[in-house]
Amino acid sequence: MSVRTILFTGKGGVGKTTSAAGTAALAAREGHRTLVVSTDAAHSLGDAFGVPAGEEPVEVAPRLWVQQVDAQRRFERSWAEIQGYLLSVLDSAGVDPITAEELTVLPGAEEVLALLELRTQVVSGRWDVVVVDCAPTAETLRLLALPEALGSYMTRVFGVQRRVVRALRPVLTRAAGVPMPEDSVFDAVERLHRDLEEVQQLLSGPGATVRLVLTPETVVVAEARRSLTTLSLYGYRVDGVLANRVFPEGGGDPWRAGWVASQRQVLDEVRQSFAGLPVWRSAYSAGEPVGVEALADFARAAYDGHDPLDEPEGDGPMTITRTRAGAELRIALPFAQRDDVDLARHGDELVVTVGSHRRLLALPAALRRHAVAAARVEDGVLRVRFRFEQEEQV
Ligand SMILES: Nc1ncnc2c1ncn2[C@@H]1O[C@H](COP(=O)(O)OP(=O)(O)OP(=O)(O)O)[C@@H](O)[C@H]1O
Ligand SMILES: [Mg+2]
Repeated sequence: MSVRTILFTGKGGVGKTTSAAGTAALAAREGHRTLVVSTDAAHSLGDAFGVPAGEEPVEVAPRLWVQQVDAQRRFERSWAEIQGYLLSVLDSAGVDPITAEELTVLPGAEEVLALLELRTQVVSGRWDVVVVDCAPTAETLRLLALPEALGSYMTRVFGVQRRVVRALRPVLTRAAGVPMPEDSVFDAVERLHRDLEEVQQLLSGPGATVRLVLTPETVVVAEARRSLTTLSLYGYRVDGVLANRVFPEGGGDPWRAGWVASQRQVLDEVRQSFAGLPVWRSAYSAGEPVGVEALADFARAAYDGHDPLDEPEGDGPMTITRTRAGAELRIALPFAQRDDVDLARHGDELVVTVGSHRRLLALPAALRRHAVAAARVEDGVLRVRFRFEQEEQV
């Protein structure tokens, strides 16, 4: 049985950690072996449970485990080989060692390692459910785009280099005065590439979904809408929206009545915007939901009888169907308009740009040989038609 993986994301401070922790507490209570893990550098997951969370999973209640990935330490372990090479290059170029250290710390490296740890946990066989407390939206999107982007980069740069380097290593080292990477460096790069591919498959595959947390405020909802578009672009499946901090109705004072009215209006918009997705609600409580009990109660009230582990029905954001003359690739891009979307073919890749986000989509083998015949954006769906020329002539 595949592991049920649920990622929580949303704007800063809306209640991602609370929702992730609450969902995990509820799942554990219902009998599932559950891990809740944070990819966020802020260590708030431990605070929510009122325990110090460690680098290894810690059990905080029956079947409920919490983990805080310490990316820095893992970074040193997995990246050491590649970094070692880069350091030797910079050293021979006369860069002083401290500056060189700083230069070789890749931006985004911590996030990569959080992802690798997530994969380790999902494939470990220890868990039925893995809940991920993500960093705020922008970082999460960068994180989720990373496996594919980095993979494509590594294939290009290191794939070509390896062939050339192997043949020319002795000559180049002498001529350039720069050490050429050993095979072990390339092995390390390849391993990382494979691992990242697995992460991508795991998070866009069956059993994995993303949940958007928001508060009923116009600005927050606007960001959630953009996230839905971008997550779909990257092939991740969003399975619900959790509207948090809803002011309870009642009470006489005008301040509260004002908020209740304004939130009601925004909640209506949320339901319309995200039609087709469940919208769960949780009340703004009188105190912080902290500790296993309070978190489980928070989640139980929010899901209101729905199974928090339910998986969405229907297709994921990307589908390929055969047509009479070829095939059609469909990518759901909710809310996207024609002018927002740009499409280009680059060898075996389709480059899809939506606003400031870009996906380098490696075309499935079946489509690679065929030309793009047409593309359009309609009702939040990008349709790309491929024409199978050879077969037509047969
Ligand atoms: N429904 C609620 N009622 C009362 N307090 C809440 C509610 N939801 C969250 N909080 C509190 O609000 C604060 C922020 O929530 P939380 O840490 O879950 O947000 P976050 O989205 O993870 O924030 P960050 O972006 O900083 O990671 C916490 O102190 C939390 O206990
Ligand atoms: Mg948080």
